[in-house]
Amino acid sequence: MLSPGPKYSALLEDVDRMISDTLRTATAELQAMVDHLLARGGKKLRPLLVFAAADLPGTNACAETGEALLKTAAAVELIHTASLVHDDVIDNAARRRGMETLHCRWDSRAAVLAGDYLLSRAFDLLSTLEQRKTLLPLMSRSVSLMCHGETLQQGKRYDWRTTEHDYLRFNFLKTSQFLAACCEAGGIIGAASPGQLRALREYGCNLGQAFQIVDDILDYAAEPHRLGKPVGGDLGQGVVTLPLIYLLRSRKREPALLRSVLSRRGSLGAVFEARLREAVKRSGALNTAARKAERCIEAARQALKSFPPVPARHLLERLAGAVTGQLSAVQGNP
Ligand code: IPE
Ligand code: IPE
Ligand code: MG
Ligand code: MG
Repeated sequence: MLSPGPKYSALLEDVDRMISDTLRTATAELQAMVDHLLARGGKKLRPLLVFAAADLPGTNACAETGEALLKTAAAVELIHTASLVHDDVIDNAARRRGMETLHCRWDSRAAVLAGDYLLSRAFDLLSTLEQRKTLLPLMSRSVSLMCHGETLQQGKRYDWRTTEHDYLRFNFLKTSQFLAACCEAGGIIGAASPGQLRALREYGCNLGQAFQIVDDILDYAAEPHRLGKPVGGDLGQGVVTLPLIYLLRSRKREPALLRSVLSRRGSLGAVFEARLREAVKRSGALNTAARKAERCIEAARQALKSFPPVPARHLLERLAGAVTGQLSAVQGNP
């Protein structure tokens, strides 16, 4: 998404090493899946949030906090990767990070077990930390909320009357609160004050909302080879995201098509889906969703205002900009 500079790039390499060490296993099939997963990493947004948030309050990082930060950063990336492995089973997605997904290469049983293994290794790392009394409940609660959000969203599949309010709640639960928890974890290790922790959460929540909105726009607008994962899956799976909500709300446009969608329950079928996807693109709904994401990014930046203008704050501001910046590369520039 962006280059975080030499200091944070080196820390992310340490995270990669820690993850690969911690996942080493004598079970050959599990190790093969681990190797497949580690062959191509993701953007590592969550570890970056941990590191930058810890640097924000301007505390002196010592060797011990360095080790705790590294383990926490590795743990959040493991939790995130586990959630993606499971999410791809749920969404029946064939590609992730430019590679075949685990459940396609092996099968769903193997992928579910590999995801569980990653989760258990993450919590094992956290359990060794001096700050475990705060970090373990923070992260276990966050994973529970993720499951809660994903379950609620699954329950609303094919419900074409899903509202913006419903959508933002699902996003908060499945994505934003976890980014907020990563920021908070960094803040805790960096000895942030209660007010600073609140500001960090506020930043993470707003960043997360924008992040998921942009991801959902890209699911309509991007080329699959750019994303390294399939596009169009949300509508295909009946997951109603912000662009579609905005289209369905603007009844003046394509009234016959929209009336017909709203009168249905269940899958629309490929032809209808293609028409709806085109209608989303033509309608300006992607632009309206992009503006909503920009407002969240502005709120995320505002939340950082109380921190001194240290390089970590600058990195968090740049990360926020990079979220909506992804939209400039897509066709039609929403
Ligand atoms: C994907 O997250 C899942 C969402 C919350 C949209 P990322 O886009 O951060 O995934 P990786 O880690 O870079 O692959
Ligand atoms: C994010 O939603 C899922 C998680 C928080 C695990 P998506 O289903 O939109 O994520 P992608 O698009 O598959 O990465
Ligand atoms: Mg998915
Ligand atoms: Mg998506």
